[in-house]
Amino acid sequence: MNATPEKTILVTGGAGFIGSNFCRYILEKYPAYRVVVLDALTYAGNLSTISDIQNHPNYNSRFVFYPGKIQDETVVSGIIKAENIDHIVNFAAESHNDRSILEPGSFIQTDVYGVFTLLDATKKYNLQRMVHISTDEVYGTIDEGQFTEKSPLEPNTPYSASKAGGEMQVRAHGITFNTPAVTTRCGNNFGPFQYPEKLIPFFVTRLIDNKKVPIYGSGQQVRDWVYVMDHCSGIDHVLHHGSIGEAYNIGSEGELTNMEITSRLLKHLGKPDTLIKYIPDPRGGAHDKRYSIDASKLTGLGWIHSYNFEQALEKTVQWYVDNQEWWREIVATEDYQVFVRRFYGKYLGEDL
Ligand SMILES: NC(=O)c1ccc[n+]([C@@H]2O[C@H](COP(=O)([O-])OP(=O)(O)OC[C@H]3O[C@@H](n4cnc5c(N)ncnc54)[C@H](O)[C@@H]3O)[C@@H](O)[C@H]2O)c1
Repeated sequence: MNATPEKTILVTGGAGFIGSNFCRYILEKYPAYRVVVLDALTYAGNLSTISDIQNHPNYNSRFVFYPGKIQDETVVSGIIKAENIDHIVNFAAESHNDRSILEPGSFIQTDVYGVFTLLDATKKYNLQRMVHISTDEVYGTIDEGQFTEKSPLEPNTPYSASKAGGEMQVRAHGITFNTPAVTTRCGNNFGPFQYPEKLIPFFVTRLIDNKKVPIYGSGQQVRDWVYVMDHCSGIDHVLHHGSIGEAYNIGSEGELTNMEITSRLLKHLGKPDTLIKYIPDPRGGAHDKRYSIDASKLTGLGWIHSYNFEQALEKTVQWYVDNQEWWREIVATEDYQVFVRRFYGKYLGEDL
C-alpha cells in the first residue's frame, strides 16, 4: 500500500504548455506528491502533451487526468472530493492575445468566471492553498524601469484584461472570505510543448519548413523572456513559501526585442534573414511596447532562476527539431489551419 502523499495538487490546465511542464517538475521533485489534472482539452490542450507523464513508470501511479472545465462547479467539486485535493494550482486559461482579438468573449468565461469557481471550491472544501497563475501583461506596457507588484494593473488587450479580472477575484476572495489564495505574474515563457501559435514555437516550426515568419511592425517590442522550468520553480516556491493574499512577479532578467529573438532562432536553425516578412501590426495600439518586471519580492524569499537564457533557447529550438511528431499533428488540425489563415492570411498572402 502506498504511503499517504504529502500533498495532492489539482493542476488545472495541466494538458497545456506550462501546466504540463509543472506536472513533470512536481512529480520529479516531490516523490510523495500526487498530481491531478483537470483540463478542458481546448485547441491548446492535448493528451499528447501529457502522454509521457501518463506512461512514465515513476509518475503514472501519482498522476490522474480528468477532462472538464474549471467553470463547471460540479466537476470541480467531484474531483476535490474523489481525489482528496488539498491544493490547487490554476493554469487553465484562454491564453493567446491574438485569439483574444478575434474572439474576446470566450476569454471571460475561463479567465474570470473559471477563477471564481476554483476560489469558491477552495473556500468550500477548506483547501490549504490555491495558486493562481497570472501574467505580467496585466500591468500593461512600460517604457522605462520595471513593474513591481505594487504597480497598477492597466491591461491593454482582451486577454490581459480577462487575466486582470481573474486576479481581482483572487484579491476580493482573500479579503472578503479569507480564501487562502496567492497570485503569480510571470513574463513570456518558452520551452518544450508550447502550442505552436506563440511567437517562438510558431517561428521555429515555420522556419524548419522554410516558411516566412511575420514580424509585427519593426519587431522592437520588448518581452521579458523566462524559460518554462524557471517559471515552474518560481510557482513551486510560491506554493511552499509565498504569503497568502500576496502577488509575486516571476522573472529572470531576460529582456529582448522580438527582432532579437527572431535573429537567434534563424541562427540556431541556420536559416537566412530573407525568411522574415515585416507586416503591419495586427494588434495596433493594443500591442504593448515593453514588459519588464522586478522579481525581487520572490528572490527575497530565496527563489533564484537557474537556467541560462541562451542555452535554454537553443535547447528549446532543438526540442522542436527533435519532436516534430508532436507539433506536426497540431499544425495539421483544422483549428490551427483556420486560425493561421484568419489571422495571418491577409498579411502573409502567398507566403502563408
Ligand atoms: N505562455 C506564457 O508565456 C505565459 C506567461 C505568463 C503567464 N501565463 C499564464 O499561464 C497559464 C498557462 O499558460 P500556457 O501558455 O500554458 O497556456 P496554454 O494555452 O498552453 O494552456 C492552457 C490550458 O488550459 C486548458 N483550458 C482552457 N480553458 C479551460 C477551461 N475552461 N477549463 C479547463 N481547462 C481549460 C487548455 O485546454 C490548455 O490545456 C495561463 O493562465 C496564462 O495566462 C502564460
